[in-house]
Amino acid sequence: MYSLGIDIGSRNTKIVIWDTQNKEIALEGYRSTEVKVIQAVEKLLEAAAQSLDLSRISRSCATGYGRKLYRAADKVLSEITCHAAGCHQLFPDCRTIVDIGGQDSKIIVLEAGGAVKDFVMNDKCAAGTGRFLEMTALKLDCELEELSLLAANATQKLNLNSTCVVFAESEIIGLLAEANPAEDIAKAVFESIAKRIYAQMAGLEIMPPAVFTGGVAKSPELKKYLAQLMQIELAVPFEPEITGALGAAILA
Ligand SMILES: Nc1ncnc2c1ncn2[C@@H]1O[C@H](COP(=O)(O)OP(=O)(O)OP(=O)(O)O)[C@@H](O)[C@H]1O
Ligand SMILES: [Mg+2]
Repeated sequence: MYSLGIDIGSRNTKIVIWDTQNKEIALEGYRSTEVKVIQAVEKLLEAAAQSLDLSRISRSCATGYGRKLYRAADKVLSEITCHAAGCHQLFPDCRTIVDIGGQDSKIIVLEAGGAVKDFVMNDKCAAGTGRFLEMTALKLDCELEELSLLAANATQKLNLNSTCVVFAESEIIGLLAEANPAEDIAKAVFESIAKRIYAQMAGLEIMPPAVFTGGVAKSPELKKYLAQLMQIELAVPFEPEITGALGAAILA
């Protein structure tokens, strides 16, 4: 039998179909979250039906920002609970999780057995989230995926002083107008996000091993700066976006 986990994030909707007997992922998928959140889930399930017999799904659980909008789910759980369960499955020794998505960032500390010990979440400010990277890529006229490569080739240190994405955008426009290279600007943006996330974890008892999840974990440069500040190695799952959906499927 299978269980279904659905993570309706502010940017992407992710599903994981979990094989409850073999305790392994049978299928995973993601696509952009649509205005009508149900549509993204339905399209993902339609695609899943091509390769799996969905009548074998016995239960489902929804999580993420839009979790309450998907009424067909048997269960609804918080993102904190689901990311913890998903990361614990992939990295059984994991004690710290940093999840940075399109619109929020969370740091979760786990007990040795995987239970949630403590967490902080920022969903009020975009400066430490994927939104900041999206805005930067737009201003630097490059793809999101190219930002890390650019930053790795930076030659001089720039400081971004704005603590708000709206002001940072004006600051980036100013830096470009002064002919600063895109490489140095990209590096300054990553450093600024890493500093924000590090400041966010100030009250937590951070410990290794640590896992970095969410779409933003696909930036190797951010991972590098964050690991330097935390003085802890960060492991990134093969598909860093799906840990919440995986946890939801396991807990369904
Ligand atoms: N290669 C990449 N490099 C850097 N950032 C990336 C990359 N690919 C995706 N992202 C970022 O990941 C974000 C989406 O991640 P994710 O799917 O985890 O977010 P979400 O769960 O929808 O959002 P939230 O958890 O905040 O509600 C995008 O906003 C984008 O900024
Ligand atoms: Mg998310």
